Amino acid sequence: MNRDNLLVKQPFDPGCYTEQVNQLLERMTVREKVGQLNLDHVSDSGDLTDCNLGERSSMEAEAEKVRRGLVGTMLMKGREEANYFQKVAVEESRLGIPLLFGFDVIHGHKTVFPVPLGGASTWDPQMLEEAEEYAAREAYADGINWIYAPMIDLCRDPRWGRVAEGAGEDPLLGSLIAQAKVRGLQTVNPETGYPYVAACFKHFCGYGLSQGGRDYEECETSPRTLFMDYMKPYQAAVDAGALSTMSAFSVLNGQAVTGSRYYLTEVLREQFGFRGFVCSDYGAVKELVHHRVAADRKEAAAQALLAGVDEDMGSHAFADYCEALYEEDQRFAEAVDEAVRRILSVKFAVGLFEFPYFPEEAEKYMLAPEAREAARNVGRHSIVLLKNQEKILPLSPSKKYFLTGPLSDNVEEMPGAWAQYHPGTNVISVKMALEEAGLDFLQSDGCPFTGKYCFDSQDDSGFAKALKMAEECDEIIYVCGEKAAWSGENRGRVSIDLPKQQYRYLRELKKTGRKIISVLMCGRAMSCQELAESSDALVLAWHLGTEAGHSIADVLLGSYSPSGRLPITFPCYTGQVPYYHSWLSSGRSRESLIRYKDGENGPLYPFGYGLSYAEITYDAVHISRNRWKADETIRLEVVLTNHSEMDAYEVVQAYYQDVVSSLPTPDRKLCGFTKILVPAGSTVKAQMLIPVERLALMTLDLKEVVEPGEFILFVGRDSMCGESARIVVE
Ligand code: BGC
Repeated sequence: MNRDNLLVKQPFDPGCYTEQVNQLLERMTVREKVGQLNLDHVSDSGDLTDCNLGERSSMEAEAEKVRRGLVGTMLMKGREEANYFQKVAVEESRLGIPLLFGFDVIHGHKTVFPVPLGGASTWDPQMLEEAEEYAAREAYADGINWIYAPMIDLCRDPRWGRVAEGAGEDPLLGSLIAQAKVRGLQTVNPETGYPYVAACFKHFCGYGLSQGGRDYEECETSPRTLFMDYMKPYQAAVDAGALSTMSAFSVLNGQAVTGSRYYLTEVLREQFGFRGFVCSDYGAVKELVHHRVAADRKEAAAQALLAGVDEDMGSHAFADYCEALYEEDQRFAEAVDEAVRRILSVKFAVGLFEFPYFPEEAEKYMLAPEAREAARNVGRHSIVLLKNQEKILPLSPSKKYFLTGPLSDNVEEMPGAWAQYHPGTNVISVKMALEEAGLDFLQSDGCPFTGKYCFDSQDDSGFAKALKMAEECDEIIYVCGEKAAWSGENRGRVSIDLPKQQYRYLRELKKTGRKIISVLMCGRAMSCQELAESSDALVLAWHLGTEAGHSIADVLLGSYSPSGRLPITFPCYTGQVPYYHSWLSSGRSRESLIRYKDGENGPLYPFGYGLSYAEITYDAVHISRNRWKADETIRLEVVLTNHSEMDAYEVVQAYYQDVVSSLPTPDRKLCGFTKILVPAGSTVKAQMLIPVERLALMTLDLKEVVEPGEFILFVGRDSMCGESARIVVE
C-alpha cells in the first residue's frame, strides 16, 4: 500500500518535547520513574488493587499513592474524580507530573454511535472522523484524556465477538478508517491548542485472528498474510500520528505479543516508525506467566519491559518489580528511562503540563443536539439494505403495520457492545421513532429475550396475542437479532445465526400470509439464511446507538435511501467461516467446484454488498491510459445515472486482480472506493484515484512489490462486480 496515500501531517510529534522530558527525567527518583509506568484501575467494584470510588477512604488511599508519585495513568472516568486526583498529582506530588485518565470510548461516549462494524458500513472515513471528534469532546468533558480506541483489528471470523469493535475484513477500508479515527479522536481542543485526548489504537497486533472465534486464544497466520493484510490498519494508525497503542494479550504466530520484542519494537517502532507509548492490555503482563513464558510476575515484568511495553495495565507487575530490576541490570534501567520518556512525551503532547484540569464548561458537549444529529446521520449511513423484493420498502403511509420482535421497542440493546456504561436512558427505540413519524401501526414484542442467555428460550407465551394483532395489519415489521452483550470482548458465538426462538416466531408470522420486513440488529456478520429467505425485505441495522430508532425510521420511511455496504462478508453458514472476498486464487475455482457436501460455496451476501431505493446505473469505466508505472496514480472515472426520483449515495468500489504473479495473489481485492451523492434523475461522474502501489504483492521476505504485467480492474457496486478494464504496469 502506498504510504503517501495514507500519510497525514503529524501535528503532535512527541519527539519535540525531548528537552523538557529529559530535564524532568533527571530529577526523578527510580521510584517516581516506575510510578509513571504504572496504571491504577479505579473501578466501582474496587476489585483490582487500588481504590473504590464508593468509599472515601479508598479514594484517599489512592490519592496518597498519587501524591508519592507511584501512579502515572489511571483507568477511570468522571470529571470530578479526575480533577481530584489531578490536583493531588499536580499540586501535591514532588514533581507535579499530571496523570492520564484512560477509558474505553469505542463508539461514542454519552452520545453512542453505531458499533464500529456498523460504522464501517458507511464506507465514509470522513464521517467517522467527525464522529470521533464528538466522542473525544464528550469523553474530555467526563474526565478522560486518553481513549482506548480505535480498535482496528482486522477480522475475518465473525464468531469472534470483538469483530463488532473493528472495521471488518479488508485492509484498505480498515486502514482508511483507522487513520480517520485516530485523527478524529486527537482533534485539537480550541481552548488549549492541544488534542482533547491521546488515542490508543489496539490491539497491536493480530488479535483479530483468535482461532475459532474464541477470545484470548492463539492467533495464527503466515507472516506474508499478517503483513499483507492484518498489519495494514496499525501502520495507518501510526502514520496518522497515534500517540499510544495497546499490546494484545494473545499469542501470535508462536509469540506472546506482550513479551515480544519482535512485534513491539522491531515491527512497531523500527519498521512502522511508531513514536508514542505502548500500554499493555489489561493483565497482559502477568498473563505471560499463564502463557508459561515467564516463571513469575517479576520475570513477566522484565520480559514485557524489554519487549517494549511502557505502561502496565492491570498486572501491577511493573509497580512491584521494576525498581528492583532497575538496580539489578543496566538494560532494565535504560528500558525504564526510555518508557518514562515516551509517557512523559505524550503527556506534553496533549498539553497536560499546561492544562491539567477538565473544565466544568466542557459539560456542554454531553449529548449536545449536534452530537445526537451526527449519531443519527452516521446511523442511517450505516444501515445496509440486503433485500427489497417488489420494492416493499419504503413503508407506505396508506398501510397499517405490525411492529414486532424482541428489538422493536427496546432501548437497552441498541447502544451495542461497548456502551455498557450508558444504560438506555437517552436512546430512541424503533417504536418511539415510528410513532414520532406518525406511522399507522400496532406493536407487541411477540418474542422477547428470555432465559439465562436468551439463546435457549422456549417462551412462546407472547405469540398468540401478537399473531392476532398481525392479522389486523397489512404488513409486518420484524425487528430481531442479537443482544448487545452477544458481541464484544469474550462474547464469541458458535453459531452466528438468529436464536431458534426468533425463527420459531418468524415461521408463525409467515403463516399469517402478511409480507415481512425484517430489521436485523447485530454486532457481527450473520449467516441468517432463513431470515433472508422468509423476509420480503431485510434491513441490516447493526446496533446503532443513542439515535438508533431515528436512523432506522429515516430509512424505513424513505427519507433517506440506504447507502451502507457490507464491510464484512455474510456467510451462508457458520461452518463457512473464515470467509472473505480476497482469498488467494485456488487451483480449483470456487464457481465450478462445490466444496461442501451439505451446502453451497458462496456467501449469503458478499463483501461490499448493499442495495439502494434508487435505481443507479453505471456507464463504462474510463481510464485515461492503459500503461502505468509503479509510482503513478491511476485516475478512474465512471458515469452514474440515477433513474429514480430519490437522491441517493452510491459507493463505487474498485477491485483488482494481478493476472500472473510470482506468488499466489487474491482472486480479487479492494483497491479503491468513493462515495458519491447521485441526485434524483441526474447523471454524475465519480472519480477514483488508485495509486499503482496498491496493486503490490507481498514477497516472502515481506517486501511489497508491484510486479510488471497485466492487471484486471473490476468496478461496480460490490465485490462480485464484473471486469471493467485491463491495465499494464511496466
Ligand atoms: C480489553 C481492552 C480494553 C481494556 C480496558 C481489556 O479487557 O481487551 O480492549 O481497552 O480491557 O478496559
